[in-house]
Amino acid sequence: SPSHDDDLAACTPPDPEKYPGGALTIYYGSQTGTAQTFAEQLVREGESAGFAAKAIDLQDLMDEVDSTDEADGGAGSSTSIGNVLCRSVDEGGKAKAVFLMATYGEGEPTDNARQFVDLIKVKAGIDSLYKLDESPLDGDAALEDLSCLDFAVFGLGNKQYEHYNNMGRFVDMALEKCGASRIVPIGLGDDNDDLEGDFETWKENVLWPALRKSYVKGVSDGTEPSKRTESDAIALPSCAYQVEYLQGEECEIAKTNSTAADRVQNINKHYVYAVDCTVSAKRELRTESDPGSTIHMEIDITSNIGTMKYQTADNLGVLPRNDPTIVEAVAKALGYNLDQLFDLHPTSNKDNSKIEKYTLPFPTPCTVRTFLERYCDLSGLPRRSDLKQLGQYARDDIDRKALLRMAAKEGKNEYKEKIVERHVGICDIVTRLCPSIVCPLEHFIMVCPRLQPRYYTISSSSTVHPNTIHITFSVTEDTKKDGCKFKGCCTGYLERESKGEPIRVFVRDSTFRLPKEVERPIIMIGPGTGIAPMRAILQERSHWRKALPSKDHGPNILYFGCKNRSTDYIYRDELESFQSEGTLTELHLAFSREQDHKVYVQHLLYKQSAETWKLIHFDKAHIFVCGAVMMGAAVVQTLQDIIVDHGRMSREDAKVYFDKLMVEGRFVQELWS
Ligand code: 2AM
Repeated sequence: SPSHDDDLAACTPPDPEKYPGGALTIYYGSQTGTAQTFAEQLVREGESAGFAAKAIDLQDLMDEVDSTDEADGGAGSSTSIGNVLCRSVDEGGKAKAVFLMATYGEGEPTDNARQFVDLIKVKAGIDSLYKLDESPLDGDAALEDLSCLDFAVFGLGNKQYEHYNNMGRFVDMALEKCGASRIVPIGLGDDNDDLEGDFETWKENVLWPALRKSYVKGVSDGTEPSKRTESDAIALPSCAYQVEYLQGEECEIAKTNSTAADRVQNINKHYVYAVDCTVSAKRELRTESDPGSTIHMEIDITSNIGTMKYQTADNLGVLPRNDPTIVEAVAKALGYNLDQLFDLHPTSNKDNSKIEKYTLPFPTPCTVRTFLERYCDLSGLPRRSDLKQLGQYARDDIDRKALLRMAAKEGKNEYKEKIVERHVGICDIVTRLCPSIVCPLEHFIMVCPRLQPRYYTISSSSTVHPNTIHITFSVTEDTKKDGCKFKGCCTGYLERESKGEPIRVFVRDSTFRLPKEVERPIIMIGPGTGIAPMRAILQERSHWRKALPSKDHGPNILYFGCKNRSTDYIYRDELESFQSEGTLTELHLAFSREQDHKVYVQHLLYKQSAETWKLIHFDKAHIFVCGAVMMGAAVVQTLQDIIVDHGRMSREDAKVYFDKLMVEGRFVQELWS
């Protein structure tokens, strides 16, 4: 839509007095919100460094490209990404952009970056997203000229995964190949170690000094002192939001409106709508003798079949709700009335328009209770930048200094010890640790991170169960150093919900896709709750065996692992009946604690080397893996060992062979850390 234009790029140049650095656009590819939070940080800091900075969701950028295409009658489609990226060119003829690219799963783009990555890959003439080390600058010539663009890339990744920071590295290369100029070397952040610290170091030591030096006239290097002084910290910072408390009649009107707004909640702007669906069954899967808990839950989607249509082994997104006791404690500490209804407006333009609502962080009007329960991450790990913001609201010197100290670079170890290792959430900070915090509601809305959806691999087949979605999850439970019990926010929430209760959910595509050819063999490796998609796949394969009896159906081989046969061998009955009806042709069980050495799924897989090679190489088997990251890495290693041994290949060739399986969709894994 044309009204989008003003949002996206500064067509009129920014005021040179106020913004000597000119326009700076921060594009982000974010899945769980970290890259977006980083983008918002850069916008705030850009403002004080003299840049007219704005943050743009990469999906918004692509929507803009699409609408430009339409306006051109399609004719401009080959140049429009360049046109949009280069719209905010300065006098010097260059546009400046920072790309914050999270890598998701196995080297994949985040949902909101997928379209951008697909397009830029074609434009740059790069064949594969995965072979970035093998001279990607060769190959086809670039189809897009981005010489108008100066860029910097920061990648958000995790070293535990094989394709570490693949998306950051890909975008960095692709932009260069299209002729854009790199302002600074790419920064890479490792979430397995200290992502925030990596980002902080990169932006303070690399990005800002270079940006100031190149674009802000009169600044020779990056040693500009920060404008903020200690005394600023005591006064309340400026706030992006205004809260309007509703009274009497307004409440009645708001209540009628809020049911509608609440019913369809918009999470990732363009593509996800979460709706309330009822829990229709729930049961414990482990036996009583096991101290842990794994729950099977069924969710009725009959009344939302349009929005909740799913495919076998897709992902279910769940919007968790905080524990009511935490919500009450936070409200008490901050002096909020939980039943108070309020409406929200941006401070800058209060015009009550639809667009305005769209840019707000959650649907309003709502009660303070709904806000704290559904939209605030109260028990998750606060980032160091969250502590820095919270510190501004502490009245007590000791509290304020402690928070600011841990937020600073030097405070990294103290932060690790006092916040990370003790599982301290914002709820603990405001209720216990820093009771002098005074934070008016509109400020808390700005400071507190949003509660993010959690994803579960669906454990039912959509063919067999078109009206219900099944999930399988273990309840995350841990004991803190001080002896207090700690439960995962979302699994704890699901554990509290019982049959008949509504939970707010949505469906997201997963990478598990069954081969269309029923004769293809399937090898499944899913220990623990990693069994979830395998159960869905077995249901589906069982259905087609019965529905198409004249066809030749390929074997289904499952590797499952758990501690003991008698405690956590979940879905045992179902697996045994899949076996007796002939769907499950081989069941390999690794009971890790039934002997004095560990037996894991990868050990059993290695024992079947010859057969596995035959299935992969000659029968074109599909391999699905689901479970913990360490297990996934060990399985990949084992498969490559098998390819080396039986395919008689060098390790390098085995890797190439294996990568080809991934590209063909014949090796798919979904792992969690
Ligand atoms: P353990 O807890 O006895 O070590 C499901 O959680 C099963 O996966 C358990 O039997 C668990 O064994 C096992 N497991 C733990 N770490 C693993 C790894 N690195 N590779 C494969 N399986 C693992």
